[in-house]
Amino acid sequence: MLLTHLNAATMQGGYGLIEDAAILIEGGRIAWVGPKAESPQADNIIDCAGRLATPGLVDCHTHLVYGGSRAHEFEQRLTGVSYAEIARAGGGIASTVRATRSQSEADLAASALRRLDSLLAEGMTTIEIKSGYGLDRDTEIKMLKVARELSQWRPVDVVTSYLGAHALPPEFKDDRAGYVDLVCNEVLPAVAGQKLADAVDAFCEGIAFSVEETRRVFEAAHAHGLPVKLHAEQLSNLGGAKLAAAFGALSVDHIEYLDQEGVEAIAASGTVAVLLPGAFYYLREKQSPPVATLRKAGVPIAIATDLNPGSSPVHSILTTMNMACVLFGLTPEEALRGVTVNAAKALGLSDRGVITPGMKADIALWDAERPGDLAYPLGFNPLSAVIHNGEVVRGML
Ligand code: NIG
Ligand code: FE
Repeated sequence: MLLTHLNAATMQGGYGLIEDAAILIEGGRIAWVGPKAESPQADNIIDCAGRLATPGLVDCHTHLVYGGSRAHEFEQRLTGVSYAEIARAGGGIASTVRATRSQSEADLAASALRRLDSLLAEGMTTIEIKSGYGLDRDTEIKMLKVARELSQWRPVDVVTSYLGAHALPPEFKDDRAGYVDLVCNEVLPAVAGQKLADAVDAFCEGIAFSVEETRRVFEAAHAHGLPVKLHAEQLSNLGGAKLAAAFGALSVDHIEYLDQEGVEAIAASGTVAVLLPGAFYYLREKQSPPVATLRKAGVPIAIATDLNPGSSPVHSILTTMNMACVLFGLTPEEALRGVTVNAAKALGLSDRGVITPGMKADIALWDAERPGDLAYPLGFNPLSAVIHNGEVVRGML
């Protein structure tokens, strides 16, 4: 299949824009990309009518699978109760844990598919999904199974993270060490043994787990050959990012309170900084992530929806790109890199996120003139078609 008459944002260096380009796809992979005038022969030639091609989008941080709703907490927060206060009073993550434990796999899958469909309508071809609303072994496994199964129902690649260290479950409220033992000695080995997780995540925060507790989880992850990532410095600066860097983490996520030392540590370890403007927006956070320092240190920046029922009920990656620009001062180019090449890197995937020969043929086609047009509007979706593994899975070509 040869796609011709398109502008290709290859994302190889900046936008890597090739105007009036063609892309040859063979066997689910990109075989060639370049100016249309130089394109190779092909049987199946598709005129893309001047559309913009980008890599299929990657959402590298979501909590897509969960039960229940936290709409009442949204209302509470609007009357001035904080996210941390709600969590300490037994709401927050714990409330979603109760709902998720009580739901069947089929119910969890049905609600997750509805949310996934919103994301897919905006050109997504890879999504990361975390566990962390079960906290006991069976529910964590149930969540990860549901997450993996979603790719059987929709044209999307699912990458999973085991997030056992998300919150202390009520049955361990007087035994923190006991819960960390359960995560490290029982659940993580089971999850790794069944190959249900591609990485291990944790929430290092005053209302969640300390640096020392997180270290134990990371040691167990490495012992089972799994890479790590971390919810770090979201509400305060505990130094979680430095710990993550020491473990060669794929990413540190949120990082509003990351300091210079933390930035230097992740720059040295090649860890991706994942910014989550949806949570910043919903929690009306005042502290912005250190974008200028990250840029200066050359840290790759990704952005993600953080789709979850509490801090970020955001179901739109295009909106997230816009928020990253307006709230954090990213350029539209950084925003697009943040949901393509750098998001793939945050998941440890080197076969996608750019349009170059050898990469997976995951491509989004847009009714847009320039790549900068994607982050510019709010609530407008210029998606025209999606190619996943070399097959047209959405729109007509
Ligand atoms: O990424 N920070 C911790 N975890 C989630 C929130 C989960 C929740 O509130 O349910 C986050 O923001
Ligand atoms: Fe999160």
